Amino acid sequence: MKRLGIIGCGLRSDSYLYYMRENWAGNWALAALADPNPVARRIYRENNPVTEDCRDFESGPAMLEAMQGKLDAVIIASPNMLHTESILPALKQNLITLIEKPAVTSLADAARVWNQAQLYPAAKILIGFVLRYTAFYRQLKTVIDSGRIGKVLSIAAAEYLDPTLTSNYTRNWRRFDRLAGSFILEKCSHDLDILNMLAGDSVKSVSSFAERTLFRPREDAAMRCSDCRFRNECLYSAETLEPYYLNVGSKVYLTPLIPFNNDLCVFNSDKDTPDHQVVNLIYNNNITATFTVAMGQPRTTRTIHICGTDGQICGDIGDDYLAVRPMKGNWERITVEHDDSPHHGGDSVITNEFIQLLSGAELKVDADLHTGIEAILPAIAAEESRRKNQIIDLNAMRLFMPGF
Ligand SMILES: NC(=O)c1ccc[n+]([C@@H]2O[C@H](COP(=O)([O-])OP(=O)(O)OC[C@H]3O[C@@H](n4cnc5c(N)ncnc54)[C@H](O)[C@@H]3O)[C@@H](O)[C@H]2O)c1
Repeated sequence: MKRLGIIGCGLRSDSYLYYMRENWAGNWALAALADPNPVARRIYRENNPVTEDCRDFESGPAMLEAMQGKLDAVIIASPNMLHTESILPALKQNLITLIEKPAVTSLADAARVWNQAQLYPAAKILIGFVLRYTAFYRQLKTVIDSGRIGKVLSIAAAEYLDPTLTSNYTRNWRRFDRLAGSFILEKCSHDLDILNMLAGDSVKSVSSFAERTLFRPREDAAMRCSDCRFRNECLYSAETLEPYYLNVGSKVYLTPLIPFNNDLCVFNSDKDTPDHQVVNLIYNNNITATFTVAMGQPRTTRTIHICGTDGQICGDIGDDYLAVRPMKGNWERITVEHDDSPHHGGDSVITNEFIQLLSGAELKVDADLHTGIEAILPAIAAEESRRKNQIIDLNAMRLFMPGF
């Protein structure tokens, strides 16, 4: 029986536990829960197998200190800024550690975690880069590696957020850089990881621009949907939006760090987030890439267009649409099939990798710590670039991490 600790009893941890309840029942139980919200801890206890001595804590570091030698694995899924202080003791205890993306939020913390991981190689790390585990991006990578479009020259990727997902970044803890790191880091480290995977190299330099254009203050709207005269017609009304956070049963997912934030006006809220951003990248192998993200779009999806020396690939993950066009000939559609787990089937695949780690399998983790940090560097650089209006050199950043 594997003993699990959970740090952050929110939406994300439950996604992993859901598949473990369904597919690995009887092999694991929760032995410790860390979350400042007692309601969240209670809901987790009610919905999962727990050990007889399962303990509650208000924070990850307190849990790891008290539970030394009593855990096999930990899932770290608290708000981003809090990850590092839980990762460091987890590595020191050689735990199997599932760290939600973005693993860390600064270059200094990336160096601290990287250096600690070198001291404790027995600790197994999996980063929650679930898109890496999707059939869509795995098939895309297979087509690139097959050489069908020749050598990749450039990649144009985009991510669009529908009203529900947009409200995550204008209403809850994610709206604050002091908890999320930055919008590009919190929302798009996934996408930068996919670009790294497809380019097959590390980023050399980054530039970025960002603006808040759509979600600016509106005098005609109230601060809360419940007080607002547009509450029945606004696309972003908390009263009419799909209840994104309620999949385990209640409003526990409203973080106690920012109480009652769920009906904040997306226009008038005190957010740090831009609502559209573009990032330009050049890789050390000279592949160029652009990444665009925009809030307030008709649907949530990600698109991609890749130009090679001998053809093109395009795709839309929301439509399971992937197509290849050689220099001579027409678009050829590729069928993408996956189960109905979240993130286009990626959730069940990544959870299965976590289960294999817990079972003691010796496997090369796809989303390892190196991968996790490589995706964070361009996000940190993009934020710096757009604030300073400068091109940022990433090769210099890696010098902070010996052996990286
Ligand atoms: N891989 C993915 O696709 C994916 C998807 C969503 C979220 N995430 C990541 O997962 C993490 C959690 O996101 P979420 O959607 O579950 O958020 P959430 O708001 O649903 O849950 C966060 C939980 O952390 C708790 N918390 C706050 N302070 C804490 C502390 N000091 N110690 C422990 N817990 C604390 C909150 O009370 C809340 O229950 C974030 O890092 C996020 O970026 C990843």
